[in-house]
Amino acid sequence: MSETILGISAFYHDSAAAIISDGDIIAAAQEERFSRRKHDSGFPVNAINYVLTESGIPYKELTAIAFYDKPYIKFERLLETYHAFVPRGMKSFLSAIPVWIKEKLFMKKLIRDELAKYGKENIPLLFPEHHLSHAASAFYPSPFREAAILTIDGVGEWATTTIGYGKDNKISILKELYFPHSIGLLYSAFTYYCGFRVNSGEYKLMGLAPYGDPNSSAKAKVKKIILDELVDIRGDGSVLLNMKYFNYATGLRMTHDKKWTELFGFPPRKPESEISQEYMDMALAVQEVLEDMMFKLAKTTKDLTGSDWLVMAGGVALNSVANGKLLASGMFKDIWIQPAAGDAGGALGAAYTAWHIWKEKERIVSNGRDAMKGACLGPAFNGRQILSAVGKYDARYHYYVDFDELSRFVAQKISEGAVIGWVQGRMEYGPRALGNRSVLGDARNPEMQKKMNLKIKYREGFRPFAPTVLEEDINEYFDLDRPSPYMLLVVPVRKERLNPLPNGYHQLSLRDKLYYLRSDVPAITHIDYSARVQSINKEVNPRYWQVIKDFKKLTGYGVIVNTSFNVRGEPIVCTPEDAYKCFMRTEMDYLVMENYLFDKKEQKPIYVNTPIDEFGLD
Ligand SMILES: [Fe+2]
Repeated sequence: MSETILGISAFYHDSAAAIISDGDIIAAAQEERFSRRKHDSGFPVNAINYVLTESGIPYKELTAIAFYDKPYIKFERLLETYHAFVPRGMKSFLSAIPVWIKEKLFMKKLIRDELAKYGKENIPLLFPEHHLSHAASAFYPSPFREAAILTIDGVGEWATTTIGYGKDNKISILKELYFPHSIGLLYSAFTYYCGFRVNSGEYKLMGLAPYGDPNSSAKAKVKKIILDELVDIRGDGSVLLNMKYFNYATGLRMTHDKKWTELFGFPPRKPESEISQEYMDMALAVQEVLEDMMFKLAKTTKDLTGSDWLVMAGGVALNSVANGKLLASGMFKDIWIQPAAGDAGGALGAAYTAWHIWKEKERIVSNGRDAMKGACLGPAFNGRQILSAVGKYDARYHYYVDFDELSRFVAQKISEGAVIGWVQGRMEYGPRALGNRSVLGDARNPEMQKKMNLKIKYREGFRPFAPTVLEEDINEYFDLDRPSPYMLLVVPVRKERLNPLPNGYHQLSLRDKLYYLRSDVPAITHIDYSARVQSINKEVNPRYWQVIKDFKKLTGYGVIVNTSFNVRGEPIVCTPEDAYKCFMRTEMDYLVMENYLFDKKEQKPIYVNTPIDEFGLD
């Protein structure tokens, strides 16, 4: 009989469930996709139901359940931190503690109670440490037999950064950095200060950085202040934050706003307000500091382990700009990053620790391939389910018996400037849409970025779109000599595709900079001539590969725009109904779900109860 383990992450942000059977990943998904609450942190009831159903294993037959951190140690951190900062922390102590006493201190009981709803059996419940869960999610499914492991995030129990080494089925933790000294929280503090939401707006800060002027005295000044006043970066990459300026250890906010305003000479940016140059320079300065820290940590990791291979996880590992530079540096022969690098991925990591560490099961590495199955580990929907979901909206559709014909039609429409909602197969695990819950467009089209930002996604105009390129063509467009299946690397667009910058470019407004035609694939070329690239492999995702291949036959370009299928403020769509509703409330031209095509012009308007201008921050 097979042995099946359920992994759960919950109660912080991005709750998720994952299930592995005899070491093979069967299913994994974030709760937000089902509950439709972005970054849902509640107990992942829906995600657990889904992964159990997908596995076909009844709850009572589970070998173990693994939760992604140790609740008691987390509570101890909270108490000790307050103790250390008393009386400064009294106000938030009083407001935070009741929540902890009610929920988190008794988390073990809470989890037991929640699980009792699935069955009465006393299944072993394990609590691997938070960073061990991250490390396991990075190493076990990676394509490497042995590897250095680096996990960096805001905070787990005490650890905020961990260096480890994985070999076969063993992971050893070699070095840790402890709260409140945290690279993730430093980056989040600047995310907050620049007017974005902590725990979700970090990639916006990263996207804003290239608008900073690298040679300006303003950027240099901010960077100097960060290094002189806020953080002491040691040679080994460990950091010491000057807690005088941070409020997260004891307060409810990230920074001491007044002290920061005095320090930097400008106040925190109000969310949604116009983004002025000082915040762009600040974003660039902190990105440079982050890269410096990551490089030093990577070097220490290399020295401690002697490995040529690096795996990473933790929220900071989603910084694809830093990842791209680290790979290009050649410090490691190759780098693999868990696509669900944030806390959602902890569910999978926890399940793996149960299998390889607790059960001491052998690890099998397949030839050069990771075990993530393209990260498409969520639910899929068949034709009957699609029709029943859209039936209530009286949707008009065309059914294609022959997928080849549909693929050619879609490629043709993309080349004519249409924007296509694309739902195929199993939903992606992790923050990125990788071609199964995506919105597609023409990367060559100079109007595409504007159209997608303003008419489809309803989001900040500065944010770039990412390309999907045929894996075999990656080097034709980008300075990258290997696949990038999970969109976790930002790399330069190849020189021969670029247009030179006009005189006075740095004096242009953000908008003019944004819409300047920087290359022959302008919709995916970021302001600094880079792109957050995803490559698609024919075997891993044949349908998505085929549509891009058909686009190439028409246009000569094996690359398109891929953005996640959602509007700002909402999680990526999961079901056919989510997709149809999202399609109808945006200006997408076509929706394709499996072999069904929906043409916007043929649809009846539907009542949408959330006006688009009320959507919050994405
Ligand atoms: Fe984490």
